[in-house]
Amino acid sequence: MNVPDSLIGLAASLPKTQTTDVRGTNMLMVGGFVLGNRIALAPMAGVTDYPFRRLCRTLGAGYAVAEMTSAQLHLYRSAKSRYRMRRGKEESPFAVQIVGSDAQALADAARFHADQGADIIDINMGCPAKKLLKKAAGSALLGDEKKVADILGTVVRAVSIPVTLKFRTGIHPQNKNAVRVARIAEEAGIALLALHGRTRDCLFCGEAEYDTIREVKAAVGIPVLANGDIHSVDKARRVMAETGVDGVMIGRAAVGRPWFFYELAWALSGSEQASYAPLSLEEKKQITMLHLDHIHAFYGEKMGVRRARKHLLAYARYLGMHLSTLGEDFYTRFMATEDAAIQKRMWQTVWQEINTRAYDEIRPAYRKVA
Ligand SMILES: Cc1cc2nc3c(=O)[nH]c(=O)nc-3n(C[C@H](O)[C@H](O)[C@H](O)COP(=O)(O)O)c2cc1C
Repeated sequence: MNVPDSLIGLAASLPKTQTTDVRGTNMLMVGGFVLGNRIALAPMAGVTDYPFRRLCRTLGAGYAVAEMTSAQLHLYRSAKSRYRMRRGKEESPFAVQIVGSDAQALADAARFHADQGADIIDINMGCPAKKLLKKAAGSALLGDEKKVADILGTVVRAVSIPVTLKFRTGIHPQNKNAVRVARIAEEAGIALLALHGRTRDCLFCGEAEYDTIREVKAAVGIPVLANGDIHSVDKARRVMAETGVDGVMIGRAAVGRPWFFYELAWALSGSEQASYAPLSLEEKKQITMLHLDHIHAFYGEKMGVRRARKHLLAYARYLGMHLSTLGEDFYTRFMATEDAAIQKRMWQTVWQEINTRAYDEIRPAYRKVA
C-alpha cells in the first residue's frame, strides 16, 4: 500500500511535552497504555477510517477510536466491516468500538477483536442513530441501568485488554443518569469514559453542556474525556478547566479540519508558544493531497473515490470554498467521477481557486446528524 510518509515531518514538529501539559504532570492512561496526549479523535462511522485516524494522529491527536462495528460477528465478512477493522502498523493503542444490545454477543465481539490484535475495546452507548435505537442499542441502552451493568461487566470479564465506554448524559434532559452510569462503569472495571454532553433525545440539537460532565468526573476515579461541540482551542481549555476532565474528544470539528489537532496539541502542551508556527495554507494543501492519496491507496480506486468525496467537500467548506463557484458543471463532474486521477486533478483545481482568494477559514458550521 502506498502510504504517504511526508506527514512524518509534521509529526516531528509537534511539541514533545506530554508530561507537562495543561492538566499537570500525570500522563493519561487507558489500562496500561499511555496516550500521546489528552486529545482524542472521536469515533465517527464513515469518517474515522485508518487514513483519517492516521492523519489526525500525525497532526496531534494522542488517541483515536475506530469506526463502530456491530457486535454481530456474521456481518464481519462484508467488505465494509473488513475496512473498518483495519489498523495501521504504527497505530498504538488501537481502539475498536463495538455496538449492540446483547451482553453475550458484545462479549463475543470483544473477544474476537482482542484475538485479532485490538488493544482497547470501546463500547458505544452514545450513538443515537435510528437503526441502533430500533434495536435498543447505542444510547438507547442508557434507559436500562441493569442492562448497562450486565453488558459492561460481561464484556470486561470476557477480555484481558482495557474496555472503555462512550456514552451520553442520559436518555432525555429530564432524566440525566450519567453519574449513575459512570459509577456502574467504574464498578464494572471500565478503564476510561468518554462522555458526550447531550442526551439521546437531544440528538445533535442545541449546545452540549458540561455540568454533567463535571459531575461525572467528580464522581469517579477513572479517566474521563469531555466530548461535544469542542471546536476551538479556547473552548477546549475552558471545558478542561471547568470540568476537571482528563482530556477532550473531538469529532466534527476535525472533519475537513484535521489540523485542528495540531493547534490543540500545541495549545494544550504547555510548551513555549513562541516556537509555535501555525500551519501555512500550502501545508494544509499538502495535508489534503496526502489524505486523498492515502484514501485511494487504502480502498482502491472505485471505493476510494467515493469515500474521498465527503472529506474533500468538508475541506472545501472549512476553507471557505463552495465547489459550485467553479461552475455547476464542475460540481456535477466532481460528484460523478469514479476516476482517482480525475478526482485528484479536480481537487488541485479547487486549490488553485482557494489560492486566488483571501484565505478565511470558517468556523465549524455543524450539520445535524441523526
Ligand atoms: C458522522 C458521525 C458519525 C458518528 N459515528 C459515531 C460512532 O460510530 N460511534 C460513536 O460512539 N459516536 C459516533 N458519533 C458521535 C461522535 O463520536 C461524537 O460523540 C459527537 O459527534 C459529538 O462530538 P463533536 O461535537 O465533537 O462532533 C458520530 C458522529 C458523527 C457526526
